[in-house]
Amino acid sequence: MMKKRIPKVNTKYIKVKKSKIHNNGVFASKNIKKGTKIIEYVGEIVSKEEGDKRSEEQFKRSRKNKSEGSVYVYDLTKKYDLDGNFKWNPARLINHSCEPNAKYKQVGLKIFIIAIRSIKKGEEISYDYGYDLDDYKDHKCKCGKEKCIGYIIGKNYRKDFEKLRKKRKY
Ligand SMILES: C[S@@+](CC[C@H](N)C(=O)[O-])C[C@H]1O[C@@H](n2cnc3c(N)ncnc32)[C@H](O)[C@@H]1O
Ligand SMILES: [Zn+2]
Repeated sequence: MMKKRIPKVNTKYIKVKKSKIHNNGVFASKNIKKGTKIIEYVGEIVSKEEGDKRSEEQFKRSRKNKSEGSVYVYDLTKKYDLDGNFKWNPARLINHSCEPNAKYKQVGLKIFIIAIRSIKKGEEISYDYGYDLDDYKDHKCKCGKEKCIGYIIGKNYRKDFEKLRKKRKY
């Protein structure tokens, strides 16, 4: 049987520990300058069909066990997804925040997490997951920031969300 190649990830900027946001989180192990490539989000590139199947299975697991995250699969292209749900991908443990200190950047078929401001040693690293409004009620946000909007919704969709909120009066 062929041995699977496990990518080597640079973990010099991070430390994994329990998070107040959700189960495990990723924290800065040293001061990080704005613009630093903190870590790569590695995983297995799979077809959209396989990615959808894995997403659905993971979502069901997360409903049964609250310590399980619900989403680890990224849309890479029209054809491919990136499933990062592997122990060897510590970046999978980075939580979402409505006021993040990092962002994700796709370069070709790779995803990197980049600091968008200077981050102090010990701070939890977070980025905007960028989710749209489909099924937003399934993804409550517990980032705890002053500007938290209560759900994991990407910055680009927040205006539409506010309109929806006013219309539905909640
Ligand atoms: C990529 S994982 C992040 C790591 C997760 N904390 C863990 O221990 O596996 C994504 C999942 O973590 C949870 N999560 C991430 N950010 C969150 C937030 N701001 N509020 C609530 N849950 C969050 C959700 O279940 C989400 O689907
Ligand atoms: Zn929030």
